[in-house]
Amino acid sequence: MSRRLPLFTLALLLPALMAACGGSESVCLSDGVQYDELPEGAIFNGTCVSEGERFDDRYSCDMVEGPCRDEPHGTPSSQVTNPDPERLNDPDLDWAQAQAASCSCSCCHRDSGVSADIWSYDFEGGAWTDSMNTDRLRRLAEYPSHTGNVLSPEENFGFRRDETGMPTTDPDRLRAFLEREVMRRGD
Ligand code: HEC
Repeated sequence: MSRRLPLFTLALLLPALMAACGGSESVCLSDGVQYDELPEGAIFNGTCVSEGERFDDRYSCDMVEGPCRDEPHGTPSSQVTNPDPERLNDPDLDWAQAQAASCSCSCCHRDSGVSADIWSYDFEGGAWTDSMNTDRLRRLAEYPSHTGNVLSPEENFGFRRDETGMPTTDPDRLRAFLEREVMRRGD
């Protein structure tokens, strides 16, 4: 048992280690084009600007990196099956949307972006959170969904991504907001 343990542990850890280094994952820019090695000047996924400012007012989205996908994106549509008008009155709906707009995620996860159908911060069919299914809501609340370089709050205008999947200046507030929506949907 004791001799088998290290190998077993390594087998469990290896995929996580490789993913954490970006070893086995392909990387794309926001136009969806895949690179083996990112061009100089590429902007790390999860880079944010000051709270209250928009990422695309400060940077061009062209050089933003993120994951690739095999299939082209579909048209964003509401993924909410029980639209309760109360969700539009959530006191943190606009705050959370502004947090997303401050970060590079918004370059791809926007209605005109490569991953709009996964979630879109500027989805216009109701609440912006309607653009994502409940599993993705949980992912934004629970753990970083993309691996790779994670900037520290000190180098990212106070935005952190070590506690929630979406970068935020206030993980507790963001998590509470997303969890309210998960609870409201009840699925
Ligand atoms: C360069 C474009 C790009 C950027 C920037 C980007 N994403 Fe994504 N995201 C994608 C693509 C493409 C997928 C789908 C990946 C796939 O098909 O496997 C995806 C998938 C996701 C998913 C769904 C994962 C799943 O397994 O269902 C979440 C959640 C997500 N992104 C959150 C984020 C967050 C948070 C940020 C910012 C820190 C971000 N994304 C930045 C392109 C991007």
